[in-house]
Amino acid sequence: MEQNRGTWSSRFGFLMAAVGSAVGLGNLWKFPYLAGENGGGAFVLVYIVLIVLLGFTLMLAEMTIGRHANSDAYGSYNKIKKGWGFIGGFGVLAGFLILSYYSVVGGWVLKYIVASFTGIGADKSGYFSNFISSPVEPIIYHLIFMGLTAVIVIRGISGGIEKAAKLLMPALFALLVVTVLRSVTLDGAMEGIRYFITPDFSEITLKVVIAALGQVFFSLSLGMGIMVTYGSYLSKDEDLEKDAFLIPSLDSLVAILAGFALLPAVFAFGFEPGEGPGLMFITLPAVFEEMPLGMLFGALFFLLVFFAALSSSISLMEVTVAFGIDQFKWSRKASTIFFTTLMFIIGIGASLSMGAWSDFLIPWIDGNSYGIFDFLDVFTSYYLLPAGGLLGAIFIGFIWGVPNAVKEIKMGSAFRTEKLWTVLIKFVVPVLVFIILLSTTGLLDK
Ligand code: PHE
Ligand code: NA
Repeated sequence: MEQNRGTWSSRFGFLMAAVGSAVGLGNLWKFPYLAGENGGGAFVLVYIVLIVLLGFTLMLAEMTIGRHANSDAYGSYNKIKKGWGFIGGFGVLAGFLILSYYSVVGGWVLKYIVASFTGIGADKSGYFSNFISSPVEPIIYHLIFMGLTAVIVIRGISGGIEKAAKLLMPALFALLVVTVLRSVTLDGAMEGIRYFITPDFSEITLKVVIAALGQVFFSLSLGMGIMVTYGSYLSKDEDLEKDAFLIPSLDSLVAILAGFALLPAVFAFGFEPGEGPGLMFITLPAVFEEMPLGMLFGALFFLLVFFAALSSSISLMEVTVAFGIDQFKWSRKASTIFFTTLMFIIGIGASLSMGAWSDFLIPWIDGNSYGIFDFLDVFTSYYLLPAGGLLGAIFIGFIWGVPNAVKEIKMGSAFRTEKLWTVLIKFVVPVLVFIILLSTTGLLDK
């Protein structure tokens, strides 16, 4: 059985793939613009608090469930307790919906690799909004991104995922550090640095907390069974406690670095911190213009962002594809092609909602109406993922039982944080997530 499902060829391979899943557009594209929209340091502070309380706790929880049950997200929950597979089913749905629009942004990144050479012009903001609102070009890039993801996923677990991640994550890290150095040394960068690291406590509103919570789940790939699925490929002597510390730490480091790459430049060049989804695409080209060989550097940077996005999209697709393989007994190829086609079609809607279909709005229970792109984002980050995390915590705390989970963890780990983790997973996580989930209703006016 183990043979058919595949395993990691090395511990490093697993770590890189898990980090590859976590580190992606969430860090480089989403985190900086969310910080810019939500008071800078205020958002960063809340984010870090939630990572410490929830991120580590749930990361360990998901990996433990997966390694114990040795199945996909749906199958793992169901195997531990019959009838609870639906928690994993939540995740399959979340992954499916997230990838539908994630791939659209992945396509934007591809476009910017090309545009680094062909030139973006003086009006960075106009260039971006022109591009994303046009009817055909972004969809072609979306198709390419989705297609590449599918090809890698078809090649199977250690063949594709590991190899790509091992090589490219370190390269991305190095280039990000260089970009940060350029950005923080720009004239007028200081104001941006201050904005990013100084929390103004009066800015910590409910909206900021909700946004930060959604981002914790999104950025760590939590609440949808990815770490369950990846954990299922791990051997019993793997130190899960250590991994659950390492992965969120690295992910947060990259997000913070991305903030330092973008926000100082926003102030130095007089852009708006609350620019939204365009922040990275508008700011970075301006930073690269201030560097020697900027064109080349820009292309290389976006290329590595693209690979980071790809290693995340692979994991998003893997959850869905593994579901098809394990539950419907489909071949890997059939499962991939089936789901890819569906996600591509939904993504077309997400892309068009940036232009031709921008008037098509979906009313939502928070009192707002969203275009397709925003709806997919809000629905998954603020609802599906936190709900998945909440159910996962309840599952461990009260259904499977903390002692059973602890036994599984201790097979490969000293588990020094056992007592702390027990309190967090059983009480703190469920209560905190539940309160924040509830409060989104009707309170999120923009
Ligand atoms: N964590 C990824 C990122 O930060 C996105 C992602 C979300 C991947 C959920 C898998 C699951 O870009
Ligand atoms: Na991330």
